[in-house]
Amino acid sequence: MFKKIFTNDIIYKSLYNGKWIESSSNKLIEIKSPVDDSLVGKVQAMSKEEIDRAIANSKEAGVKWAETPINERAEILHKAADILEKNKEEIAEILVREIAKDRKSSISEVQRTADFFKFTADAGKNLEGESIMGDKFPGGTQNKISIVTRVPLGTVLAISPFNYPINLSGSKIAPALIGGNTVILKPPTQGSISALYLAQALNEAGLPPGVMNTITGRGSDIGDYILTHPGINFINFTGSTAVGKHIASISTMVPLLMELGGKDAAIVLEDADLEQTASDIVSGAYSYSGQRCTAVKRILATDEVADKLVPLLKTKIESLKVGSPEDNCTIVPLIDKRSADFVQELIDDAINKGATLVTGNKRKENLIYPTLFDNVTTDMRLAWEEPFGPVVPIIRVKDMDEAIEIANKSEYGLQSSVFTKDINNAFYIAKKLEVGSVQINGKTERGPDHFPFIGVKSSGMGTQGIKYSIEAMTRPKAIVINLDK
Ligand code: NAP
Ligand code: G3P
Repeated sequence: MFKKIFTNDIIYKSLYNGKWIESSSNKLIEIKSPVDDSLVGKVQAMSKEEIDRAIANSKEAGVKWAETPINERAEILHKAADILEKNKEEIAEILVREIAKDRKSSISEVQRTADFFKFTADAGKNLEGESIMGDKFPGGTQNKISIVTRVPLGTVLAISPFNYPINLSGSKIAPALIGGNTVILKPPTQGSISALYLAQALNEAGLPPGVMNTITGRGSDIGDYILTHPGINFINFTGSTAVGKHIASISTMVPLLMELGGKDAAIVLEDADLEQTASDIVSGAYSYSGQRCTAVKRILATDEVADKLVPLLKTKIESLKVGSPEDNCTIVPLIDKRSADFVQELIDDAINKGATLVTGNKRKENLIYPTLFDNVTTDMRLAWEEPFGPVVPIIRVKDMDEAIEIANKSEYGLQSSVFTKDINNAFYIAKKLEVGSVQINGKTERGPDHFPFIGVKSSGMGTQGIKYSIEAMTRPKAIVINLDK
């Protein structure tokens, strides 16, 4: 049975030195469900002194953890994965209520995290160093040999967003831990209860006290204090571009790995299988109400393609299930009223500037019905801004070069899709797109999670993905042997 981490059914504690503690600030943050505004629980609003203590404790624990054999670190990740897997239904119930993600996707988020932990444990064990002979460089000698291994960076600050509070915490924590780092987890406030369950899985799996501590509290209150704390050696952030840019502007000499917003384009060419393309676009754009960084967020097509694609999209969009995450609906209430108001603003702007509403533009509080616009033009906000909601624009272009030009004009550069049967055109476009990854004949998406996941321009910096994340959170250390001459 998964151990309870709260004093009663409401108050959740924070993980410190292997124990669940309450904040001495006596301040709690209420987490209400986006589904029905009911109270999911209360989390600790930790004070600056408690943050100092958590980071100091993490530094102490780090000395032994860095020297713990990698197979023992891997064993703990495997155990944590087993605990997650065994309790996935129970944890998913929290996700359903806390972030309004449908039950099936919630279970799959937990399972994906368990799989991520296992793969990371094995990938960590398979990472090899190298030995380099000195005589390769002019004037060098065989008497010099550099033995290069990878060592931890120290304490990693992991900050995750609301839309994947378990998976996007886990995909930072596991590579950091296998690399021998300690972790300070600052989960999203809306999503912290789910993330605390992940921390509990690691704690129950036998992670030594202090190797991971959690800090709950609002980013706007405590974020800058943690970000600029001298005890932090690496910042791994996923969230909005605005907060990412803020982090980059205040951090000093601490390496950053950041995955931020996106405006992923689907470019559809004349020869694409339009039925399949429409299915891929609809599932890519509207799952979890479009609250995914990798959601398809604009469609670029010529008149000839758009005329055929629009009716196919319309039929599929109108058959999406709208309502509660408890009923496994694809379209669910957005995370809060502010987000729903923002999406509505983009919809209203498109209507006022003359876009053609194909379907949608219906709202019940935070529930926005899936919306598709045709004839969106580049003076409309929807052409450029990330809604993080279920609304997609079709921008009509004259040819594939104009599609590439508009795709690249975006400040974002996460992913793009190209739908075509012509491999030459697919490669022509893929090479020119200024994004981290291009999907040919598939929706934009992160997984499988051992693939590199890269955001360029305002979509991030650095590369995630299991092997890449471990490499990012470790550094080479060279020990040079000078043999007798
Ligand atoms: P967000 O508002 O930027 O918040 C992300 C995290 O940053 C939360 O934990 C938040 O804490 C924290 N935070 C806020 N202000 C902070 C500060 N000053 N210092 C330190 N931390 C601070 O993003 P979100 O609304 O949760 O997530 C949606 C955004 O994330 C979208 O733009 C989406 O595209 C992006 N995203 C990107 C990826 C990717 O891999 N590229 C994946 C998922 C999401 P609080 O919750 O306490 O404010
Ligand atoms: O937005 C979260 C990021 O991890 C993407 O995952 O599966 O939604 O593409 P996915």
